[in-house]
Amino acid sequence: MSIDVEELLQLIKSSTTGSVPISQFFEVNYDLEKDRGRIPERYIRLIGSFQARYQSKEVMLARAPGRINLIGEHTDYNGLPVLPMAVNRDIVSVFSPRGDCRVILNNVDSGFTERQFDLQKSIPPYETGDWGNYLKAAVQGIIDHYLKMGKTLKPFKGLEIMIHGDIPPAAGMSSSSALVVLGALMFLKANNLEIPRLELAALMARAEHYVGTQGGGMDQACSLMGQSGKALKIDFNPLHITPVKMPAGYTIVAANSLVQAAKTAGALDQYNRRPIECRLASAVLRKKFSENFKRDMPIRLLGDLNERNLAVPEKDIWELSDRVLHKYPYSLAEIAALLEMTPEQTAQAYCRRRDGSLFAEPADGFKLWKRYRHVTTEARRVERSFKALRRTNIFEFGRLMCQSHESCRDLYEISCAELDRLVEISLEAGALGARLTGAGFGGCTVSLLEDDKVDEFINRVKLSYYRDFLKCEKKEFSSIIFPCKAVNGAGVLF
Ligand code: GLA
Repeated sequence: MSIDVEELLQLIKSSTTGSVPISQFFEVNYDLEKDRGRIPERYIRLIGSFQARYQSKEVMLARAPGRINLIGEHTDYNGLPVLPMAVNRDIVSVFSPRGDCRVILNNVDSGFTERQFDLQKSIPPYETGDWGNYLKAAVQGIIDHYLKMGKTLKPFKGLEIMIHGDIPPAAGMSSSSALVVLGALMFLKANNLEIPRLELAALMARAEHYVGTQGGGMDQACSLMGQSGKALKIDFNPLHITPVKMPAGYTIVAANSLVQAAKTAGALDQYNRRPIECRLASAVLRKKFSENFKRDMPIRLLGDLNERNLAVPEKDIWELSDRVLHKYPYSLAEIAALLEMTPEQTAQAYCRRRDGSLFAEPADGFKLWKRYRHVTTEARRVERSFKALRRTNIFEFGRLMCQSHESCRDLYEISCAELDRLVEISLEAGALGARLTGAGFGGCTVSLLEDDKVDEFINRVKLSYYRDFLKCEKKEFSSIIFPCKAVNGAGVLF
């Protein structure tokens, strides 16, 4: 199904006044009353850019939202739960299938120059950090999926795409995964294929490793499965979503620290160090637990440390883990000796990047206890936060958010001076809870506010953080500090 591009334009223009079906597509994202002018403008520009670049007349529309994570940081790739919500910042696209296997990607924002590639069995990535890699990741993931099922590449059609995004980039709000999800939906639609949402979420989580990150599955699942007015508790292995209503009368405000949480090669290594340390901690714990219980203990991820999996009482698991992991950092040689391997074998088994190169031993050692401690306590905070939200126990939820930030700062070491100051200021300015959100090393914080305190909060943070602390002269704050609304997941129209 598709629509004539001119007809689409007319539909959008009339959506300012009438209640035409297309306004439902916007509605999930925006407060129609407030944003009445802005929404059509954005789509009109998007379609105009499409028409200026491509000749195709029959088009489709797609959108994929970003997310904020309320709590549960760096737990997902350990097989432990997270609690994010899809938000009213998204990437939208106009696209059209092609007769051949070429994919052409463009952005209304001229800072992102055109990317073109052909569909093939193995699509070589662009340089690390290139924006085209997110689309390639999605397409490659789907191609691999169908190849595994014995399909040939012949029937796959290429695409011409124009996108526009308003998710702040490098801000911990998953603009990259939104692009992956959007790419997957467009590619599937253009080729008349369907993959069930949950399956697609898991597939895209693995597919995004193509760009070089070793992330978990939170962002893709949230962008695909988001629900209006609700946060999602996401459990992994198997992927399972439990929505929970966001409490009436309260708002989550995102504030960008303006420290770029970029996905450059150096930043990827900062991120990837954590999954590596978690895998090493799991390996050491497996060895120690197996020795202690005189049987092989199935510990592959930190999330495997639970009573059901190990048939050991929860209390004993924590007591033993705390006893066998020392608090000071480990050297590679020490871990290797513990695992009865050579350092080279250990590095090969646990410290590989996607391109096969080895992650070097950090100068300050592998911090196994700190990482283990953050991940396991954070997972418990997610469960407690979920219960607190269900019972609308707002103060408890706020407290847990603050504890999470402290753990991210002190144990997982993914905060920075700016994020810490922004959290402090947010609490002074009336937030009931505040913490960094996403991968860390910069990006946004999220704060929990009573609705009627939001405006005053934003004003105080503008003064204390942006003006006084950062000495920043910005005047346009709407994409720097803003209230977030929980919205529905990604979709395709027409
Ligand atoms: C990034 C990753 C996610 C998750 C977060 C940290 O956003 O893509 O999978 O690991 O960092 O919670």
